[in-house]
Amino acid sequence: MSQLTTTEIVLPGIVEPEALQIRDRRLAPPAAGQALVRVEATGVSFAEQQMRRGKYYDQPPFPFTPGYDLVGRVEAVGPGTDPSLVGSRVAAVTKIGGWATAALVDAADLVPVPAAVDPAAAETVVVNGVTAWQMLHRRAKVRPGGTILVHGASGGVGSTLTQLARHHGIRVVGTASPRHHDTLRALGAEPLAYRSPDLAAQARSLSPRGYDAVFDHVGGPGIVDSWRLLAPGGTLVSYGTAATRDVAGNARLPVLALFARLLWWNALPNGRGATFYNLWAGRRNRAAFQARLREDLTQVFALLADGSLTAQVAARLPLRDAAAALRLAESGTVAGKVVLIPSL
Ligand SMILES: NC(=O)c1ccc[n+]([C@@H]2O[C@H](COP(=O)([O-])OP(=O)(O)OC[C@H]3O[C@@H](n4cnc5c(N)ncnc54)[C@H](OP(=O)(O)O)[C@@H]3O)[C@@H](O)[C@H]2O)c1
Repeated sequence: MSQLTTTEIVLPGIVEPEALQIRDRRLAPPAAGQALVRVEATGVSFAEQQMRRGKYYDQPPFPFTPGYDLVGRVEAVGPGTDPSLVGSRVAAVTKIGGWATAALVDAADLVPVPAAVDPAAAETVVVNGVTAWQMLHRRAKVRPGGTILVHGASGGVGSTLTQLARHHGIRVVGTASPRHHDTLRALGAEPLAYRSPDLAAQARSLSPRGYDAVFDHVGGPGIVDSWRLLAPGGTLVSYGTAATRDVAGNARLPVLALFARLLWWNALPNGRGATFYNLWAGRRNRAAFQARLREDLTQVFALLADGSLTAQVAARLPLRDAAAALRLAESGTVAGKVVLIPSL
């Protein structure tokens, strides 16, 4: 096999996006169980906004290559690894390492991408699709006819969750900045502005009996309203602490404080549930974790392939413009996912 190199983006420390670095690095040939993936699309997730501030719950030490997920073609596999993978288009949730032209990924973490699906479109539903699917169908288990409140329905996860819910016959009230309310309407959601001082009252008036599930990635004081807005038997799915992205201090404390609050609510004998969704939960049982992720992402890809889901591509930028991509994602001006394309 010829010499393998990758061009990758490096996050050197707590820096502004412009301080991201680009480097070439030699890759070892894929080891047993590994695949070499030529990256066709990766993207900016909220996690990278937190990581560059040192605020992601379990980020690795600096320096490292960010990139929560990727879509690409398998170029080679290691010894004893299914050779039929070579040439196929695949996706993986990597947490880090996706912002590169090539990556070594455990073959068991790869999920096939339907041939008809554009790599950038597929990219928008990798981590976002798994997260949205699992929160809706494995955690909240809302039935058709139910009503949910999705905070940040214009974002990568939120726009996917909104579409999955609408596809399942669920009514969606979504929060976003007013500039994104037309996008929400196009996705089939009823929009509310999360900065409205009377957001909770507005949400209540749209569903007086409450919500069968509230999806909250914000945390902070507003999560009390998310809890109070639940209908009898409803579930609060908390899955982030975006409110503390810019707050100095320990990255873990806000998460631990949130856990404590959810545990307390969950223990109350009132028929409502509160849970924290973490995509990585259960990964100690690796085979079961991988099987679940593969099963769920495969269902999301099938919905993308048959047109039930529409990819929310906010912008496509070259990989080398990762700094601009991160700035754009952080600007709050775009809806959906900012996608990085190494071949541009
Ligand atoms: N727990 C897990 O396993 C897991 C997995 C994946 C993602 N996440 C979390 O999911 C969240 C979304 O990630 P993403 O990549 O989809 O981010 P994203 O694309 O940057 O979207 C962020 C969304 O949040 C909205 N928003 C900003 N401030 C808000 C506020 N105060 N109240 C309500 N909404 C607000 C934005 O709305 P506008 O742009 O309209 O202002 C946008 O819709 C992040 O918090 C991330 O950490 C968690």
